[in-house]
Amino acid sequence: MDKTIRQQIYSDVKKWIYQAGGEQIRVQIDDKYQIDTKSSANDLVTEVDRETEKFFAEKIRDKYPSHRIVGEEGYGDKVDTLDGTIWIIDPIDGTMNFVHQKRNFAISIGIYHDGIGGEIGLIYNVMEDVLYTGIRGGEGAFRNNEKLPQLTEQVSIDTSIIALNSSMAFDNNRINEKKVQQLIMDIRGTRSYGSAALEFAYVAEGIVDAYVTMRLAPWDIAAGLILVNEVGGITVQANGQSVDLLGTNAILTCNKCIKEELLENYIELK
Ligand code: IPD
Ligand code: CA
Ligand code: CA
Repeated sequence: MDKTIRQQIYSDVKKWIYQAGGEQIRVQIDDKYQIDTKSSANDLVTEVDRETEKFFAEKIRDKYPSHRIVGEEGYGDKVDTLDGTIWIIDPIDGTMNFVHQKRNFAISIGIYHDGIGGEIGLIYNVMEDVLYTGIRGGEGAFRNNEKLPQLTEQVSIDTSIIALNSSMAFDNNRINEKKVQQLIMDIRGTRSYGSAALEFAYVAEGIVDAYVTMRLAPWDIAAGLILVNEVGGITVQANGQSVDLLGTNAILTCNKCIKEELLENYIELK
């Protein structure tokens, strides 16, 4: 993507994300809204999720009619190749937190052009008013305009903090739980924030050293992958293969220096 176009898109998306998060969601956080369930009783979606995605879809179609949209709530296009410019949007990542806690959720937008490299990633922690951004081109990633350090510091398994879901440590049909239990015993601590996008952002920020999870959609991953790349971290499928941005992935995103050990000793998919 041309640098000038990338900068133009970046400035638009940043403006829209502050509008959606700050002027719409944050000021209306105590309003009543409709809550529905999707695939299960615990898979929540609200009117605010839908309205936020619709807001972005309308802005994008108006300003960039040739761009395509992949969105969780159905306002996007049917996309089965990564050709052209694609906006991958999770209007609210962490809807359960949004409903139950009124905090700890994020708007996540990743913009890709002709493939998997990733052009622009933004994750907005709405209630804390913290915007994580990453733009292709080696400029790094930022937290509210403050540059995040590269993840060069050597971390080891025994001093690391790893974000994971507790369900991975019980009998399940996705991952060898015995190895996850061993991981939990060997590391310094676990965290579980309930928003994949924020968990990626925390890996990019270096406040957790890895995030392992079993089933993420493209909109959970798209922005975070760019941020983690920009600080020198790595994101792969939990079987070591490259991420498939058009499908569902079990994911490991981490500081590079613990990737091999995690994959070899602790993460074994069933
Ligand atoms: C969910 C959250 C959650 C993760 C789930 C996602 P949603 O996204 O990121 O932390 O464990 O896999 O589906 O439904 O709140 O957008
Ligand atoms: Ca999500
Ligand atoms: Ca969502």
